Amino acid sequence: MRLFKIPIIKKLLTPISLGFLTGERSLLGIDLGSHTLKILELSDKGLELVNFGMMTLPEGADLEDPEKDDLIISTIRKLIEQLNIKKTEVAVCLSIHHIIVKKIEIPFMEKEELDEGIIAEAEQHIPYNLQEVNLDYQILGRSSEDKMDILIAVAKKEVVERYMALFSEAGLRPYVIDAETIALVNAYETFYADRSSIVALIDIGASKINLIVLEDLFPIFNAEIPTGGKYLTRQIQDRFNMNYAQAESIKINGPSDNTLIQPLQDIFTLVINEWITKIKRTLRFFEENHPKAIDKLILSGGSSRIKGLTDLFYKEIKKPVSTFDPFKKLKYPSEKFDAAYLEYSVPQMPIALGLALRKMGEK
Ligand SMILES: Nc1ncnc2c1ncn2[C@@H]1O[C@H](COP(=O)(O)OP(=O)(O)OP(=O)(O)O)[C@@H](O)[C@H]1O
Ligand SMILES: [Mg+2]
Repeated sequence: MRLFKIPIIKKLLTPISLGFLTGERSLLGIDLGSHTLKILELSDKGLELVNFGMMTLPEGADLEDPEKDDLIISTIRKLIEQLNIKKTEVAVCLSIHHIIVKKIEIPFMEKEELDEGIIAEAEQHIPYNLQEVNLDYQILGRSSEDKMDILIAVAKKEVVERYMALFSEAGLRPYVIDAETIALVNAYETFYADRSSIVALIDIGASKINLIVLEDLFPIFNAEIPTGGKYLTRQIQDRFNMNYAQAESIKINGPSDNTLIQPLQDIFTLVINEWITKIKRTLRFFEENHPKAIDKLILSGGSSRIKGLTDLFYKEIKKPVSTFDPFKKLKYPSEKFDAAYLEYSVPQMPIALGLALRKMGEK
């Protein structure tokens, strides 16, 4: 669990520099989750949806196991083809367990000296050899007469290189690698822009719950809780002695056998209560270390779609709860998109949206 006070980092890691690609073209946002791949394209001109689609990764695909990358690459290719996307420049993201974000204090340097100076300073603050990592930084400000605060973001080179290779093999050019958390924050900043409240964004995915607290639109706290939809599916599998696909199917569509309704409901209640306990503990930790309380919760992630989950969160956590909804600001051509599909997809869109907000010429 990390506690940090940072402004929004616009671009965490820039693995390659394609100097000739400048201008305001938007990048294709790709949120490669551990369960579902999401691809989203925005218009170069503004907040209008050009393309969006999702595809479940095949069983066996594993974000933690490069040996299985072929399964991921073929899924990316399939979805790109299905959506008829021509753009190849993409913004992708890493989850927070792959990135170290840290505020460090260093001797004051002029901007031109920083690129080199920071390397010497950063080494003492990270558990890796600098040859092993990609590093990006942002100046936070002067901390005293002769010192300055810098925010560094570090990812292991092997992880960055794997992602580069994976997307390149799918025929794409990764132009920005962002932190998932920052992508979610950027989406919130763009589609809500509510400075007055302290907000907890809670993304409940397949393998993790990512919890970010924002104050004045700045992320001031971030924690990853290692549970999610896959855990729920596994509980169903164990209880009913089913394979993964059967359990996933009754989780989403309900059982065809009526006698399973109640025991299934019991598993849902048990697992959601476990999630709530962990989330409450994390929120309490934040509130004990911060002068102001959290005003509201905004949920995203496929597992936030579970019926009754929002009400249970409200009842147990006692704060207003809603689902991230970009469509007050985000336009889409109604002849191209099915409104019901977009409404269904909303919880799984925010990270891909935050990535698609990236521009090619952005520095
Ligand atoms: N209607 C539904 N009811 C219950 N669970 C659902 C529903 N729809 C999707 N899910 C679950 O949501 C998860 C996928 O959500 P999401 O796309 O946010 O995860 P991910 O980004 O792939 O995972 P992660 O971010 O943890 O790596 C899966 O576990 C899936 O079973
Ligand atoms: Mg996810």
